[in-house]
Amino acid sequence: MSSQSQQRLIRPAKNISGSLRLPGDKSISHRYAMLGAFAEGSSRFSNFSTGADCASTLSCMQQLGAKVTKLGPGAIEVTGVGGRVTPTTENLDCGNSGSTMRMLSGLLAAQEGEFTLIGDASLSRRPMGRIQKPLEEMGARLTLTEGHAPLTIHGSRLRAIDFTTPVPSAQVKTCVLLAGLQTEGATTVREAIRTRDHSELALRAFGAELTRGKDSITISGPQTLRAIEAEVPGDISSAAFFLAAAAIFPGASLIIDSLGLNPTRATLLDVLGMLGAKLSVLHLDEKNSELIGTVQLTAPAAGLGSVEINGALAAQLIDELPVLAAIAPYTSGGIRIRDAKELRVKESDRIALVAKNLRAMGAEVTEFEDGLDVPGNQQLHGATIDSGHDHRIAMAFSVAALRASGDTLIEGAEVAAISFPEFFDLLDQLAER
Ligand code: S3P
Repeated sequence: MSSQSQQRLIRPAKNISGSLRLPGDKSISHRYAMLGAFAEGSSRFSNFSTGADCASTLSCMQQLGAKVTKLGPGAIEVTGVGGRVTPTTENLDCGNSGSTMRMLSGLLAAQEGEFTLIGDASLSRRPMGRIQKPLEEMGARLTLTEGHAPLTIHGSRLRAIDFTTPVPSAQVKTCVLLAGLQTEGATTVREAIRTRDHSELALRAFGAELTRGKDSITISGPQTLRAIEAEVPGDISSAAFFLAAAAIFPGASLIIDSLGLNPTRATLLDVLGMLGAKLSVLHLDEKNSELIGTVQLTAPAAGLGSVEINGALAAQLIDELPVLAAIAPYTSGGIRIRDAKELRVKESDRIALVAKNLRAMGAEVTEFEDGLDVPGNQQLHGATIDSGHDHRIAMAFSVAALRASGDTLIEGAEVAAISFPEFFDLLDQLAER
């Protein structure tokens, strides 16, 4: 991130209410951008993510020969390279985005040439061995820097593999599928816990054929992708902050429309339901196989209960765990999180940072290697929050601050723009003070 660290003051609120529509889902935008840039023809996307992460994907793809034209607010046209990227000797800068680095590596591993991918300080700490292993098994060579970026991909003609992901990761799954797309024979990815399936749906939308088994997905290459027109559903991981914010104000009501409701992403709604919130789907539609709908949340008059999140639930909720942990003190029975070790290797060590910031606000919390116990019935006080250059930490604690006594200062608040530049303005609109 830039060195201009901004602080943001969050005052307590009396209630959260209103209705809104959110910018496009980050995961889907990355995939549409990458596939559109690789396909034949010109794709058009509306409600494309406004986050800096997806801008990193777009700029890497432009550097690799795709053409990107802005058509209007949130609307872009991407003209693809027709299956062959333009070689570049310049570094491909993935910024803060693990999705860009891991998915693009799979796409480039099957291309002729050498490509060097770099990232910011946070991304340069994140594990890349998890993509090196399958890509090298396919015949590519990856040079990492002590298991991390900068990484250089020596692309070549690959061979199909049958690969089981060592950790639940849609990014690793996608990496292998994008290499398999360009490789003769059937490449299979097996996963013990089913992760978000946007890549599978997007590849199909762009004309590729894939077959799904019980715990696996197979792609037979080589296949050609063809341009599409698509609207990106609103980002449910961004919605999570407002849904959690509304949930902690008894009786609050919030409506979000055009929201992505892909079942591999909508687990948060189940968990808010388990905590006692009422969730209604007021409208449901399907666009390019992605579910998109209008959701209303009504917070329970008696307050939130308690929930335990582990196993597959933890993997599917991985991006929403920081905000759930941050509101846990306002529940009656607390929230227990386990099997979420992956949180330690996200944009920050999210387990350590959530614990640190909850304690700064006066909460009691127990940290585990793979999770947290946050007891309920705790009143938080305002504090200075260390965002750790992590967008989801900055936003999660802005939500916790709404019911604290006294004001909270979010340090490094500008980092929210990684996924959600509009966050603070929308929070101000929804908060009754
Ligand atoms: C993402 C997958 C998840 C998630 C990330 C986006 C994706 O990461 O945390 O924010 O778009 O595929 P992993 O696949 O590494 O778990």
